[in-house]
Amino acid sequence: MGDTAAKSDIFVFFGATGDLANKQIFPALQAMVQRGTLTVPIIGVAGRSLTDDQLRERARQSLDAHGGVDEAAWAKMAPLLHYVGGDYRDPATYQRVKAALGEAQRPLYYLAIPPDYFEPVVGGLAQAGALGEARVVLEKPFGRDLASAQELNATLHRYLPEPAIFRIDHYLGKEPVQNLLFFRFANAFLEPLWNREHVASVQITMSEDFGVEDRGKFYDEVGTIRDVIQNHMMQVLALLTMEAPSKEDPEAVRDQKAVLLKAIRPIDPAEVVRGQYTGYLDIDGVAPDSTTETFAAVRLHIDTWRWADVPFYIRAGKRLPVRTTEVIVDLKRPPQAVFSTVEPERPNYYRFRISPDVFIALYADIKRPGDAMVGQPTELVAVRATAADMSPYERLLSDALQGDATLFVRQDSVEAEWAIVEPVLDNVVPVAPYAPGTWGPPAADALIAPNGAWIDPPAPPPQPPPAPGRPPEPAG
Ligand code: BG6
Repeated sequence: MGDTAAKSDIFVFFGATGDLANKQIFPALQAMVQRGTLTVPIIGVAGRSLTDDQLRERARQSLDAHGGVDEAAWAKMAPLLHYVGGDYRDPATYQRVKAALGEAQRPLYYLAIPPDYFEPVVGGLAQAGALGEARVVLEKPFGRDLASAQELNATLHRYLPEPAIFRIDHYLGKEPVQNLLFFRFANAFLEPLWNREHVASVQITMSEDFGVEDRGKFYDEVGTIRDVIQNHMMQVLALLTMEAPSKEDPEAVRDQKAVLLKAIRPIDPAEVVRGQYTGYLDIDGVAPDSTTETFAAVRLHIDTWRWADVPFYIRAGKRLPVRTTEVIVDLKRPPQAVFSTVEPERPNYYRFRISPDVFIALYADIKRPGDAMVGQPTELVAVRATAADMSPYERLLSDALQGDATLFVRQDSVEAEWAIVEPVLDNVVPVAPYAPGTWGPPAADALIAPNGAWIDPPAPPPQPPPAPGRPPEPAG
Protein backbone atom coordinates (compact mmCIF):
# COMPACT_ATOMS: atom_id res chain seq x y z
CA MET A 1 0.00 0.00 0.00
CA GLY A 2 1.02 3.67 -0.05
CA ASP A 3 4.61 4.19 1.05
CA THR A 4 5.77 7.70 1.65
CA ALA A 5 6.99 7.52 5.24
CA ALA A 6 10.59 6.99 6.31
CA LYS A 7 11.48 3.44 7.32
CA SER A 8 12.28 2.46 10.88
CA ASP A 9 15.92 1.65 11.47
CA ILE A 10 15.56 -0.67 14.48
CA PHE A 11 12.82 -3.02 15.70
CA VAL A 12 12.33 -3.19 19.47
CA PHE A 13 9.69 -5.49 20.89
CA PHE A 14 8.50 -5.66 24.48
CA GLY A 15 7.17 -9.00 25.65
CA ALA A 16 10.06 -10.92 24.07
CA THR A 17 9.56 -13.95 26.33
CA GLY A 18 5.75 -13.96 26.08
CA ASP A 19 3.27 -16.21 24.34
CA LEU A 20 2.65 -13.88 21.40
CA ALA A 21 6.39 -13.62 20.74
CA ASN A 22 6.68 -17.39 20.84
CA LYS A 23 3.70 -18.17 18.61
CA GLN A 24 3.58 -15.23 16.22
CA ILE A 25 6.36 -12.68 16.44
CA PHE A 26 9.49 -14.81 15.95
CA PRO A 27 7.93 -16.71 13.02
CA ALA A 28 6.81 -13.40 11.47
CA LEU A 29 10.29 -11.92 11.92
CA GLN A 30 11.89 -14.94 10.26
CA ALA A 31 9.45 -14.66 7.35
CA MET A 32 10.33 -10.97 7.00
CA VAL A 33 14.05 -11.71 6.99
CA GLN A 34 13.41 -14.45 4.44
CA ARG A 35 11.52 -12.03 2.20
CA GLY A 36 14.12 -9.30 2.71
CA THR A 37 11.78 -6.82 4.41
CA LEU A 38 13.65 -6.95 7.73
CA THR A 39 17.35 -6.14 7.76
CA VAL A 40 17.60 -3.85 10.81
CA PRO A 41 18.64 -4.86 14.36
CA ILE A 42 15.98 -6.56 16.48
CA ILE A 43 15.95 -5.88 20.23
CA GLY A 44 13.80 -8.11 22.45
CA VAL A 45 12.85 -6.65 25.82
CA ALA A 46 11.34 -8.52 28.78
CA GLY A 47 11.54 -8.85 32.54
CA ARG A 48 13.86 -11.87 32.77
CA SER A 49 17.58 -11.65 32.69
CA LEU A 50 18.77 -13.36 29.51
CA THR A 51 21.84 -13.10 27.32
CA ASP A 52 21.60 -12.41 23.59
CA ASP A 53 22.35 -16.06 22.98
CA GLN A 54 19.58 -17.18 25.30
CA LEU A 55 17.13 -15.00 23.38
CA ARG A 56 18.38 -16.55 20.12
CA GLU A 57 17.85 -19.99 21.60
CA ARG A 58 14.26 -19.13 22.54
CA ALA A 59 13.66 -17.67 19.09
CA ARG A 60 14.92 -20.82 17.43
CA GLN A 61 12.73 -23.00 19.64
CA SER A 62 9.75 -20.84 18.74
CA LEU A 63 10.48 -21.26 15.02
CA ASP A 64 10.90 -25.00 15.45
CA ALA A 65 7.48 -25.24 17.05
CA HIS A 66 5.65 -22.79 14.77
CA GLY A 67 6.31 -23.30 11.08
CA GLY A 68 9.93 -24.50 11.17
CA VAL A 69 13.39 -22.97 10.87
CA ASP A 70 14.54 -21.71 7.49
CA GLU A 71 18.31 -22.08 7.88
CA ALA A 72 19.24 -19.40 5.35
CA ALA A 73 16.93 -16.85 6.95
CA TRP A 74 18.01 -17.88 10.45
CA ALA A 75 21.65 -17.30 9.57
CA LYS A 76 20.75 -13.70 8.75
CA MET A 77 18.30 -13.24 11.62
CA ALA A 78 20.34 -14.60 14.56
CA PRO A 79 23.04 -11.88 14.48
CA LEU A 80 20.34 -9.18 14.34
CA LEU A 81 18.79 -10.37 17.63
CA HIS A 82 19.74 -8.71 20.93
CA TYR A 83 18.20 -8.72 24.37
CA VAL A 84 17.54 -6.07 27.00
CA GLY A 85 16.17 -7.27 30.37
CA GLY A 86 14.51 -5.17 33.04
CA ASP A 87 11.38 -4.33 34.97
CA TYR A 88 8.90 -2.28 32.90
CA ARG A 89 8.40 0.06 35.86
CA ASP A 90 12.11 0.73 36.41
CA PRO A 91 13.53 3.82 34.61
CA ALA A 92 16.91 2.06 34.32
CA THR A 93 15.33 -0.41 31.85
CA TYR A 94 14.69 2.41 29.40
CA GLN A 95 18.22 3.73 29.76
CA ARG A 96 19.39 0.29 28.67
CA VAL A 97 16.93 0.30 25.76
CA LYS A 98 18.21 3.73 24.75
CA ALA A 99 21.80 2.49 24.87
CA ALA A 100 20.83 -0.53 22.74
CA LEU A 101 19.46 1.79 20.03
CA GLY A 102 23.01 2.84 19.16
CA GLU A 103 22.93 5.09 16.12
CA ALA A 104 19.31 4.32 15.24
CA GLN A 105 17.13 7.41 14.80
CA ARG A 106 13.69 6.00 14.15
CA PRO A 107 12.87 2.97 16.29
CA LEU A 108 9.76 0.88 15.84
CA TYR A 109 8.59 -0.15 19.33
CA TYR A 110 6.16 -3.05 19.41
CA LEU A 111 4.31 -3.46 22.70
CA ALA A 112 3.31 -7.13 22.72
CA ILE A 113 2.38 -6.80 26.39
CA PRO A 114 -0.82 -6.35 28.46
CA PRO A 115 -2.36 -2.87 28.18
CA ASP A 116 -1.64 -2.05 31.84
CA TYR A 117 1.98 -1.65 30.77
CA PHE A 118 1.34 0.68 27.83
CA GLU A 119 1.68 3.82 29.91
CA PRO A 120 4.74 2.79 31.98
CA VAL A 121 6.56 1.66 28.84
CA VAL A 122 5.74 4.65 26.64
CA GLY A 123 6.33 7.04 29.57
CA GLY A 124 9.61 5.28 30.43
CA LEU A 125 10.82 5.55 26.84
CA ALA A 126 9.88 9.23 26.76
CA GLN A 127 11.73 9.93 29.99
CA ALA A 128 14.83 8.16 28.77
CA GLY A 129 14.74 10.30 25.60
CA ALA A 130 14.23 7.13 23.54
CA LEU A 131 11.02 8.15 21.74
CA GLY A 132 12.16 10.86 19.32
CA GLU A 133 10.97 9.89 15.84
CA ALA A 134 9.69 6.52 17.07
CA ARG A 135 6.56 4.69 16.05
CA VAL A 136 4.74 2.46 18.53
CA VAL A 137 2.73 -0.63 17.64
CA LEU A 138 0.07 -1.72 20.14
CA GLU A 139 -1.93 -4.91 20.58
CA LYS A 140 -5.60 -4.90 21.52
CA PRO A 141 -7.54 -4.48 23.76
CA PHE A 142 -7.67 -0.71 23.39
CA GLY A 143 -9.81 -0.12 26.47
CA ARG A 144 -12.86 -1.99 27.81
CA ASP A 145 -15.45 0.60 26.81
CA LEU A 146 -15.61 4.06 25.29
CA ALA A 147 -14.45 5.95 28.39
CA SER A 148 -11.42 3.72 29.01
CA ALA A 149 -10.48 3.82 25.30
CA GLN A 150 -10.59 7.62 25.38
CA GLU A 151 -8.50 7.64 28.53
CA LEU A 152 -5.91 5.33 26.96
CA ASN A 153 -5.76 7.48 23.84
CA ALA A 154 -5.32 10.64 25.90
CA THR A 155 -2.49 8.96 27.83
CA LEU A 156 -0.72 7.84 24.65
CA HIS A 157 -1.10 11.28 23.10
CA ARG A 158 0.79 12.82 26.01
CA TYR A 159 3.87 11.16 24.55
CA LEU A 160 3.12 10.41 20.89
CA PRO A 161 1.29 12.09 18.03
CA GLU A 162 -1.52 9.98 16.50
CA PRO A 163 0.43 9.24 13.28
CA ALA A 164 3.11 7.51 15.39
CA ILE A 165 0.59 5.11 16.98
CA PHE A 166 -0.04 1.85 15.10
CA ARG A 167 -2.93 -0.14 16.64
CA ILE A 168 -3.10 -3.75 15.47
CA ASP A 169 -6.34 -5.41 14.41
CA HIS A 170 -4.88 -8.60 12.95
CA TYR A 171 -7.99 -9.12 10.78
CA LEU A 172 -6.79 -6.22 8.65
CA GLY A 173 -3.62 -8.17 7.91
CA LYS A 174 -5.58 -11.07 6.40
CA GLU A 175 -5.36 -11.42 2.65
CA PRO A 176 -9.12 -12.00 2.11
CA VAL A 177 -10.00 -8.98 4.25
CA GLN A 178 -7.71 -6.81 2.15
CA ASN A 179 -9.35 -8.28 -0.89
CA LEU A 180 -12.72 -6.95 0.25
CA LEU A 181 -11.41 -3.43 -0.17
CA PHE A 182 -9.65 -4.30 -3.40
CA PHE A 183 -12.49 -6.23 -5.00
CA ARG A 184 -14.95 -3.44 -4.26
CA PHE A 185 -12.86 -0.54 -5.48
CA ALA A 186 -10.68 -2.05 -8.20
CA ASN A 187 -13.86 -2.96 -10.12
CA ALA A 188 -16.90 -0.93 -11.08
CA PHE A 189 -19.49 -3.68 -11.48
CA LEU A 190 -20.44 -3.98 -7.80
CA GLU A 191 -21.03 -0.29 -7.26
CA PRO A 192 -24.47 0.00 -8.94
CA LEU A 193 -25.73 -2.83 -6.69
CA TRP A 194 -24.03 -1.77 -3.46
CA ASN A 195 -26.79 0.25 -1.85
CA ARG A 196 -30.28 0.23 -0.35
CA GLU A 197 -31.90 -0.04 -3.79
CA HIS A 198 -30.51 -3.52 -4.38
CA VAL A 199 -29.26 -4.93 -1.08
CA ALA A 200 -31.95 -6.52 1.11
CA SER A 201 -29.71 -7.33 4.08
CA VAL A 202 -26.17 -8.30 4.95
CA GLN A 203 -24.97 -10.96 7.35
CA ILE A 204 -21.53 -11.78 8.71
CA THR A 205 -20.77 -15.01 10.55
CA MET A 206 -17.53 -15.48 12.44
CA SER A 207 -17.65 -19.08 13.54
CA GLU A 208 -14.98 -20.80 15.64
CA ASP A 209 -15.18 -24.50 16.40
CA PHE A 210 -13.00 -24.33 19.51
CA GLY A 211 -13.64 -23.02 23.03
CA VAL A 212 -11.66 -20.88 25.45
CA GLU A 213 -10.23 -23.66 27.61
CA ASP A 214 -6.66 -22.39 27.69
CA ARG A 215 -7.53 -18.77 28.42
CA GLY A 216 -10.60 -18.83 30.65
CA LYS A 217 -9.54 -15.98 32.91
CA PHE A 218 -8.80 -13.57 30.06
CA TYR A 219 -11.93 -14.45 28.13
CA ASP A 220 -14.27 -14.32 31.10
CA GLU A 221 -13.45 -10.63 31.56
CA VAL A 222 -14.02 -9.93 27.88
CA GLY A 223 -16.72 -11.94 26.08
CA THR A 224 -17.52 -12.10 22.36
CA ILE A 225 -18.72 -8.53 21.90
CA ARG A 226 -15.51 -7.01 23.26
CA ASP A 227 -13.24 -9.76 21.90
CA VAL A 228 -14.21 -9.79 18.22
CA ILE A 229 -17.37 -7.78 17.43
CA GLN A 230 -16.10 -4.38 18.63
CA ASN A 231 -12.95 -4.76 16.51
CA HIS A 232 -12.58 -7.45 13.82
CA MET A 233 -16.26 -7.54 12.82
CA MET A 234 -16.60 -3.74 12.76
CA GLN A 235 -13.53 -3.45 10.54
CA VAL A 236 -14.93 -6.03 8.12
CA LEU A 237 -18.28 -4.26 8.06
CA ALA A 238 -16.58 -0.92 7.42
CA LEU A 239 -14.57 -2.29 4.49
CA LEU A 240 -17.74 -3.76 3.05
CA THR A 241 -19.84 -0.62 3.30
CA MET A 242 -17.54 2.45 3.31
CA GLU A 243 -17.35 4.93 0.45
CA ALA A 244 -14.39 4.72 -1.93
CA PRO A 245 -11.20 6.36 -0.72
CA SER A 246 -10.04 9.09 -3.09
CA LYS A 247 -6.64 7.44 -3.48
CA GLU A 248 -4.40 4.68 -2.20
CA ASP A 249 -3.30 6.58 0.83
CA PRO A 250 -3.42 5.49 4.49
CA GLU A 251 -5.41 8.49 5.66
CA ALA A 252 -7.77 8.45 2.67
CA VAL A 253 -8.68 4.84 3.51
CA ARG A 254 -8.86 5.44 7.25
CA ASP A 255 -10.94 8.61 6.81
CA GLN A 256 -13.64 6.75 4.88
CA LYS A 257 -13.63 3.93 7.37
CA ALA A 258 -14.04 6.33 10.29
CA VAL A 259 -16.92 8.14 8.55
CA LEU A 260 -18.73 4.83 8.09
CA LEU A 261 -18.10 3.60 11.66
CA LYS A 262 -19.43 6.87 13.04
CA ALA A 263 -22.63 6.36 11.04
CA ILE A 264 -23.40 2.99 12.67
CA ARG A 265 -26.12 3.45 15.29
CA PRO A 266 -25.29 2.32 18.85
CA ILE A 267 -26.78 -1.15 19.25
CA ASP A 268 -30.27 -1.36 20.73
CA PRO A 269 -30.36 -4.03 23.49
CA ALA A 270 -33.54 -5.36 21.84
CA GLU A 271 -31.42 -6.24 18.80
CA VAL A 272 -28.85 -8.42 20.56
CA VAL A 273 -28.75 -12.09 21.46
CA ARG A 274 -26.07 -13.34 23.85
CA GLY A 275 -25.24 -17.00 24.33
CA GLN A 276 -22.94 -19.11 26.47
CA TYR A 277 -21.99 -22.65 25.54
CA THR A 278 -22.75 -25.43 27.98
CA GLY A 279 -19.62 -26.40 29.85
CA TYR A 280 -18.12 -22.88 29.77
CA LEU A 281 -18.65 -22.42 33.52
CA ASP A 282 -16.42 -25.42 34.29
CA ILE A 283 -13.37 -23.90 32.58
CA ASP A 284 -10.40 -22.90 34.74
CA GLY A 285 -10.43 -19.17 35.41
CA VAL A 286 -14.13 -18.72 34.58
CA ALA A 287 -16.33 -17.46 37.44
CA PRO A 288 -18.80 -20.20 38.48
CA ASP A 289 -21.74 -17.80 38.00
CA SER A 290 -20.29 -16.01 34.95
CA THR A 291 -22.70 -14.28 32.57
CA THR A 292 -19.99 -13.62 29.96
CA GLU A 293 -21.11 -14.40 26.40
CA THR A 294 -19.26 -16.85 24.17
CA PHE A 295 -21.70 -16.08 21.32
CA ALA A 296 -23.42 -12.90 20.23
CA ALA A 297 -25.71 -11.96 17.38
CA VAL A 298 -26.58 -8.33 16.68
CA ARG A 299 -28.59 -6.30 14.20
CA LEU A 300 -26.99 -3.03 13.12
CA HIS A 301 -28.14 0.01 11.18
CA ILE A 302 -25.97 2.38 9.18
CA ASP A 303 -27.43 5.88 9.01
CA THR A 304 -26.23 6.96 5.57
CA TRP A 305 -28.04 7.60 2.29
CA ARG A 306 -26.44 4.48 0.86
CA TRP A 307 -27.50 2.12 3.64
CA ALA A 308 -30.61 3.58 5.31
CA ASP A 309 -33.09 0.79 6.22
CA VAL A 310 -30.75 -2.06 5.24
CA PRO A 311 -30.30 -4.38 8.25
CA PHE A 312 -26.81 -5.70 8.95
CA TYR A 313 -26.51 -8.85 11.04
CA ILE A 314 -23.37 -10.11 12.73
CA ARG A 315 -23.02 -13.33 14.70
CA ALA A 316 -19.82 -14.60 16.26
CA GLY A 317 -19.09 -17.35 18.69
CA LYS A 318 -16.95 -20.10 20.13
CA ARG A 319 -17.72 -23.82 19.89
CA LEU A 320 -19.83 -23.40 16.77
CA PRO A 321 -19.82 -26.05 14.03
CA VAL A 322 -16.93 -24.79 11.82
CA ARG A 323 -13.98 -22.42 11.82
CA THR A 324 -14.56 -19.77 9.19
CA THR A 325 -15.72 -16.21 8.65
CA GLU A 326 -18.14 -15.35 5.87
CA VAL A 327 -20.14 -12.39 4.60
CA ILE A 328 -23.45 -12.74 2.76
CA VAL A 329 -24.79 -9.76 0.82
CA ASP A 330 -28.40 -10.61 0.10
CA LEU A 331 -29.81 -8.88 -2.97
CA LYS A 332 -33.44 -7.92 -3.39
CA ARG A 333 -35.83 -10.20 -5.22
CA PRO A 334 -36.91 -9.49 -8.78
CA PRO A 335 -39.83 -7.03 -8.73
CA GLN A 336 -42.24 -9.60 -10.16
CA ALA A 337 -42.33 -13.39 -10.09
CA VAL A 338 -42.38 -14.21 -13.81
CA PHE A 339 -41.77 -17.93 -13.39
CA SER A 340 -44.26 -19.45 -11.00
CA THR A 341 -42.31 -22.68 -10.79
CA VAL A 342 -39.45 -21.13 -8.89
CA GLU A 343 -39.69 -19.31 -5.63
CA PRO A 344 -36.32 -19.57 -3.98
CA GLU A 345 -35.95 -18.04 -0.57
CA ARG A 346 -32.97 -15.99 -1.70
CA PRO A 347 -32.60 -15.68 -5.44
CA ASN A 348 -29.36 -13.74 -5.51
CA TYR A 349 -26.63 -13.17 -3.00
CA TYR A 350 -22.92 -12.63 -2.83
CA ARG A 351 -20.85 -14.82 -0.55
CA PHE A 352 -17.40 -13.68 0.56
CA ARG A 353 -15.31 -16.01 2.69
CA ILE A 354 -12.76 -13.90 4.50
CA SER A 355 -11.11 -16.46 6.72
CA PRO A 356 -9.19 -18.63 6.25
CA ASP A 357 -9.10 -18.40 2.43
CA VAL A 358 -10.36 -16.14 -0.33
CA PHE A 359 -13.66 -17.22 -1.83
CA ILE A 360 -16.19 -15.03 -3.64
CA ALA A 361 -19.30 -16.33 -5.35
CA LEU A 362 -22.60 -15.01 -6.66
CA TYR A 363 -25.67 -17.18 -6.23
CA ALA A 364 -28.15 -17.12 -9.07
CA ASP A 365 -31.13 -19.13 -10.18
CA ILE A 366 -30.30 -20.86 -13.47
CA LYS A 367 -32.78 -22.75 -15.62
CA ARG A 368 -32.55 -26.48 -15.13
CA PRO A 369 -31.97 -28.13 -18.54
CA GLY A 370 -35.19 -29.54 -19.93
CA ASP A 371 -38.61 -28.42 -21.01
CA ALA A 372 -40.02 -26.84 -17.90
CA MET A 373 -39.12 -23.36 -16.72
CA VAL A 374 -37.71 -24.70 -13.47
CA GLY A 375 -34.69 -23.18 -11.83
CA GLN A 376 -31.81 -24.49 -9.81
CA PRO A 377 -29.86 -22.29 -7.41
CA THR A 378 -26.31 -22.17 -8.72
CA GLU A 379 -23.06 -20.93 -7.29
CA LEU A 380 -21.15 -18.77 -9.78
CA VAL A 381 -17.68 -18.76 -8.33
CA ALA A 382 -15.77 -15.59 -9.02
CA VAL A 383 -12.65 -16.31 -7.01
CA ARG A 384 -11.29 -19.28 -5.12
CA ALA A 385 -7.78 -18.96 -3.75
CA THR A 386 -5.85 -20.20 -0.75
CA ALA A 387 -4.72 -17.60 1.73
CA ALA A 388 -1.51 -15.78 0.85
CA ASP A 389 1.79 -17.15 1.97
CA MET A 390 2.02 -14.19 4.32
CA SER A 391 0.63 -14.22 7.85
CA PRO A 392 -1.26 -11.19 9.17
CA TYR A 393 1.61 -10.51 11.57
CA GLU A 394 4.23 -10.58 8.86
CA ARG A 395 2.20 -8.17 6.76
CA LEU A 396 1.39 -5.81 9.62
CA LEU A 397 4.89 -5.67 11.09
CA SER A 398 6.41 -5.13 7.63
CA ASP A 399 3.98 -2.28 7.01
CA ALA A 400 4.74 -0.73 10.39
CA LEU A 401 8.48 -0.86 9.68
CA GLN A 402 7.79 0.98 6.42
CA GLY A 403 5.63 3.52 8.27
CA ASP A 404 2.51 2.53 6.32
CA ALA A 405 -0.49 2.94 8.63
CA THR A 406 -3.23 1.84 6.19
CA LEU A 407 -3.90 -1.45 7.99
CA PHE A 408 -3.77 -0.01 11.50
CA VAL A 409 -6.72 1.35 13.46
CA ARG A 410 -6.90 5.06 14.09
CA GLN A 411 -8.10 6.57 17.36
CA ASP A 412 -11.37 7.89 15.89
CA SER A 413 -12.28 4.43 14.57
CA VAL A 414 -11.48 2.69 17.86
CA GLU A 415 -13.70 5.13 19.72
CA ALA A 416 -16.50 4.86 17.13
CA GLU A 417 -16.37 1.05 17.48
CA TRP A 418 -16.77 1.31 21.25
CA ALA A 419 -19.65 3.77 20.89
CA ILE A 420 -21.51 1.19 18.77
CA VAL A 421 -21.26 -1.68 21.28
CA GLU A 422 -21.39 0.43 24.45
CA PRO A 423 -25.15 -0.03 25.16
CA VAL A 424 -24.88 -3.83 25.15
CA LEU A 425 -21.64 -4.44 27.05
CA ASP A 426 -21.79 -6.67 30.13
CA ASN A 427 -25.03 -8.19 31.30
CA VAL A 428 -27.58 -5.73 29.85
CA VAL A 429 -29.11 -8.55 27.82
CA PRO A 430 -29.41 -11.92 29.60
CA VAL A 431 -27.24 -14.73 28.30
CA ALA A 432 -28.91 -17.91 26.92
CA PRO A 433 -27.26 -21.36 26.89
CA TYR A 434 -26.41 -23.26 23.70
CA ALA A 435 -24.99 -26.70 23.07
CA PRO A 436 -21.40 -26.89 21.78
CA GLY A 437 -21.34 -27.63 18.07
CA THR A 438 -24.58 -25.75 17.33
CA TRP A 439 -25.16 -22.28 15.83
CA GLY A 440 -25.88 -20.57 19.17
CA PRO A 441 -29.18 -20.03 20.99
CA PRO A 442 -32.44 -20.23 18.97
CA ALA A 443 -33.08 -16.54 19.69
CA ALA A 444 -30.36 -15.76 17.11
CA ASP A 445 -32.61 -17.29 14.42
CA ALA A 446 -35.52 -15.20 15.63
CA LEU A 447 -33.37 -12.05 15.42
CA ILE A 448 -32.73 -12.49 11.69
CA ALA A 449 -36.19 -13.93 10.87
CA PRO A 450 -37.56 -10.63 9.47
CA ASN A 451 -34.91 -11.00 6.74
CA GLY A 452 -34.98 -14.77 6.26
CA ALA A 453 -32.45 -17.04 7.89
CA TRP A 454 -28.73 -17.27 8.57
CA ILE A 455 -26.78 -18.92 5.81
CA ASP A 456 -24.47 -21.25 7.68
CA PRO A 457 -20.95 -21.27 6.27
CA PRO A 458 -19.73 -24.70 5.18
CA ALA A 459 -16.41 -25.98 6.47
CA PRO A 460 -13.63 -24.33 4.45
CA PRO A 461 -11.33 -26.52 2.34
CA PRO A 462 -8.20 -27.69 4.20
CA GLN A 463 -5.42 -25.12 4.00
CA PRO A 464 -1.91 -26.12 2.95
CA PRO A 465 0.54 -26.26 5.89
CA PRO A 466 2.62 -23.08 6.21
CA ALA A 467 6.04 -23.18 4.54
CA PRO A 468 9.01 -23.06 6.94
CA GLY A 469 9.32 -19.54 8.22
CA ARG A 470 5.66 -18.73 7.60
CA PRO A 471 3.81 -18.43 10.90
CA PRO A 472 0.39 -19.96 11.46
CA GLU A 473 -2.77 -17.79 11.55
CA PRO A 474 -3.41 -16.42 15.03
CA ALA A 475 -5.68 -18.63 17.09
CA GLY A 476 -6.02 -15.94 19.75
C1 BG6 B 1 -8.60 -12.74 18.48
C2 BG6 B 1 -9.54 -13.12 19.58
O1 BG6 B 1 -8.50 -11.33 18.40
O2 BG6 B 1 -9.06 -13.24 17.24
C3 BG6 B 1 -9.73 -14.61 19.62
O3 BG6 B 1 -9.04 -12.66 20.83
C4 BG6 B 1 -10.13 -15.14 18.26
O4 BG6 B 1 -10.69 -14.99 20.59
C5 BG6 B 1 -9.16 -14.65 17.19
O5 BG6 B 1 -10.12 -16.56 18.31
C6 BG6 B 1 -9.62 -15.04 15.80
O6 BG6 B 1 -8.62 -14.80 14.88
P1 BG6 B 1 -8.43 -15.73 13.60
O7 BG6 B 1 -7.38 -15.07 12.81
O8 BG6 B 1 -8.06 -17.09 14.12
O9 BG6 B 1 -9.78 -15.76 12.92
